[in-house]
Amino acid sequence: MALYSEKVMDHFRHPRNVGVIENADGVGEVGNPVCGDIMKIYLKIENDTVTDVKFETFGCGSAIASSSMATEMIMGKPLSEALALTNQAVTEALDGLPAHKLHCSVLAEEAVRAAVKDYYDRNGIAYDPADFPAESCAHGCEV
Ligand code: FES
Repeated sequence: MALYSEKVMDHFRHPRNVGVIENADGVGEVGNPVCGDIMKIYLKIENDTVTDVKFETFGCGSAIASSSMATEMIMGKPLSEALALTNQAVTEALDGLPAHKLHCSVLAEEAVRAAVKDYYDRNGIAYDPADFPAESCAHGCEV
């Protein structure tokens, strides 16, 4: 069996929503200090809904595929759904990742959450800090 699913390869070779949103309403950047990969998510938000999303990922193919899939999964969705996005959901949507690559999908979940938190912070929108636990990498390092 191939190491990577066709979906992973497709999103790696043809990533969706790559780029920068000028004047984004929320930007989230996370990294994994162990592998050194960095992911940045830009959100445009109207009426508590993600109206546009783009990403820049300096990292491995699984991280690129995870970011691409994550942007497709939250495009047009309410912020509550974007916040509920889990790395498991991203991994399932990609038809799986090898075990040693699961941490790449964690970056996608964390980058989306960080971008939403940035939006809340910029606009003085109250939120429960418990919804945004300190980011940490899959190896347990603080990021
Ligand atoms: Fe670190 Fe993929 S190897 S994000």
